[in-house]
Amino acid sequence: RIPLWLDCDPGHDDAFAILIAAHHPSLNLLGITTIHGNASLEDTTYNARSILEAIGRPEVPVYPGSRKPFSRPPLHAPDIHGESGLDGTDLLPKPSIPPVTNENPILAMRNALLAQPKGTAWVVATGTLTNIALLFATFPEVAGHIQGLSIMGGAIGGGFTDAPMSRLPGEESRIGNITPWAEFNLYCDPESSEAIFSNPVLAPKTTIVALDLTHQVLASQDVQTRILHGGSDASKPPTVIRQILHALLTFFAATYEKVFGLTTGPPLHDPLAVAVLLSTLNPSFASKHPDQALKFDDKDGERFALSIVTDGCHGKDVSITGQLGRSLATPVDGPGVAVPRGVDLEAFWTIILDCVQLADDC
Ligand code: BDR
Ligand code: CA
Repeated sequence: RIPLWLDCDPGHDDAFAILIAAHHPSLNLLGITTIHGNASLEDTTYNARSILEAIGRPEVPVYPGSRKPFSRPPLHAPDIHGESGLDGTDLLPKPSIPPVTNENPILAMRNALLAQPKGTAWVVATGTLTNIALLFATFPEVAGHIQGLSIMGGAIGGGFTDAPMSRLPGEESRIGNITPWAEFNLYCDPESSEAIFSNPVLAPKTTIVALDLTHQVLASQDVQTRILHGGSDASKPPTVIRQILHALLTFFAATYEKVFGLTTGPPLHDPLAVAVLLSTLNPSFASKHPDQALKFDDKDGERFALSIVTDGCHGKDVSITGQLGRSLATPVDGPGVAVPRGVDLEAFWTIILDCVQLADDC
């Protein structure tokens, strides 16, 4: 199984990232660090523990990480995720296991990753990158040791894919979701993002799952219904975990419709960053177990130099400084980050639904 550490800010889509990280049979979730982002650190930490409890994996250790970026105030997303960061249901359970507070979270991440054989473990980030930048700045040896870093973040645009980006009435163009140009996770802490993307050891090991890809993965009505009922008789009452996941998706769908006018279902960004790992499964294993593997389209290994615009500030005047947190991707021949442009959608939803079933069986 592929060992991974998940850094996240749950978050409706982060909840699904936790689900597959914790239940996919080819993955071994070593631990979770939480980060400011969709809500405060207190809320994202509580939410991560509550989701683990709900899906039957409460023993996975959760370490509260950074409560703010180094040089900016934190920014939250109540318009998308509600005040708690995970609004939409009263069924989420109280966590039975406290967060780990007697060990430094960055050190815990480093120790867990270095304890794995060299070249096997992954770091997956589905929130803003403060913890991850701290990890690689404090313990540079981790970059050489891991197999990869998978990040949900960034907006590439420019016809990069045919993804149906949402447009608000009157908007001419938009590739981002927090400004017309920037994606939320990278925008929240652009300095940390830049530190990651300018690290020459990390770049060749990094995959970014940008909005261009995640907006192809919309949790439609049909997906929502399949999550609620699975393969069982729709006239029977669904289990509590199915009700929780369904309620989270319908809340997320409603806020995406309200904020972005997107009526075809919310993009399930974060689990894709976990699913990237499934594209690296040993080919002979993957051919014997096609239900556990996933194919991404990366145009035959195309690589990009990625830089992040860091000048400017959060707030209304971003249209003047304009591009804070914007990701600028330039194709390169040598080492650079991978930016998959497509994914096998049917296989992705099968993986999500299988993991819901495994949680249901717990
Ligand atoms: C990202 O921002 C957050 O609101 C989501 O959880 C996701 O990680 C999408 O831009
Ligand atoms: Ca997230």
